[in-house]
Amino acid sequence: MVTGTVPQGDCALFSFSSFAVSNVLAQNSFITCVFCLPSSRMIDVQTKMAGRALELLYLPEGQPCYLLDIGCGSGLSGDYLSDEGHYWVGIDISPAMLDAALDRDTEGDLLLGDMGQGIPFKPGTFDGCISISAVQWLCNANKKSDIPAKRLYCFFSSLYSVLVRGARAVLQLYPENSEQLELITIQATKAGFTGGVVVDFPNSAKAKKFYLCLFSGPSTFLPKALTETTDEEEATESAFTSERIQRRMARRGVVRKSREWVLEKKERRRRQGKEVRPDTQYTGRKRKPRF
Ligand SMILES: C[S@@+](CC[C@H](N)C(=O)[O-])C[C@H]1O[C@@H](n2cnc3c(N)ncnc32)[C@H](O)[C@@H]1O
Repeated sequence: MVTGTVPQGDCALFSFSSFAVSNVLAQNSFITCVFCLPSSRMIDVQTKMAGRALELLYLPEGQPCYLLDIGCGSGLSGDYLSDEGHYWVGIDISPAMLDAALDRDTEGDLLLGDMGQGIPFKPGTFDGCISISAVQWLCNANKKSDIPAKRLYCFFSSLYSVLVRGARAVLQLYPENSEQLELITIQATKAGFTGGVVVDFPNSAKAKKFYLCLFSGPSTFLPKALTETTDEEEATESAFTSERIQRRMARRGVVRKSREWVLEKKERRRRQGKEVRPDTQYTGRKRKPRF
C-alpha cells in the first residue's frame, strides 16, 4: 500500500488521519425521503454512478457475476447490475428504502441490515461489490456508543471476508472532508484491502466523484480517472455516461429497452423462479407516451 495526500487531482492512494462526527439521523431521513420516490434525474445519476462503479470493478467480460450492493436503497444501482447480466444482493439499513425496492420489483435479493455491524455472508460469497453514496454515513455517530472507526473496521473486515480472494469492491462516496476520507481508507487498509481512490472530474465542483477502489488480493493497477469535463454538471454527466453505458450494452449486442433486452430480462426472472408474463409479439414494443 502506498500512502499519499488526499485526492485533489486524478486519483490518490491511501492516506490517513482523524475523523468527523455529526448527526446521521437528519441526513438519513433526508436520504430516505429523497430516494424512496426517485425522480428521473435521480435514476439517471444513480445509474451513471453504478455504471462507473461496475466499470471500475473490471469483471470478466460477458460472464454473469454474483455481486453485492451495499446501501442498495430502492435498487436503482442494482437495476443497472441486472441490466448488465449480473446477479446481486442488496443490503440497506432503511426498511422504507427496501420497501421501495420491492415496489419497484427489482431483481436482486434484499437484506435489511447495518453495514456498520458487518456483512452477514459466508466467506468468499461474492465476485465483487459496489456501493453508491452510502459508505460515508459510517463516519457519523448516530448514538453515543457508535464509534465510526470501529464500525468502519467491522464493515471493511467483513466485506474483505465475503469477497472471493482477488475480487474488488468499488465504493462511490461523498466524504465531507479529507479527514473522513482518510478515516475510511485507513480502516479499509487495516482490514486487509489494498487499492486507492479514483477521483473523476476533479476540477468540477458538481461532477467530481470519489470512487474507493479496493482489492482483496495483491495490489493491482489503479484505474485512470475521468477528466474531460465542463463547468456544467449536466453536460459532463450525460457526456460521460449515456455514451459509455450505451457502449457497454453495445459490446454485449443488446440495446437497452429493445425487444431483445426485455426478452433477456424476462428470461433471467424466469430462471430466478419469478412469475413472468408469456412472451408475445407485443413484448418490448415501443409504447406511446401517456398524458
Ligand atoms: C444514496 S442512497 C443509495 C441509493 C441506491 N444506490 C439506489 O440505487 O437506489 C444511500 C443508501 O445507503 C443506506 N445506508 C446508510 N447507512 C447505512 C448503513 N449503515 N447500512 C446499510 N445501508 C445504509 C441508506 O438507507 C440509503 O438507502
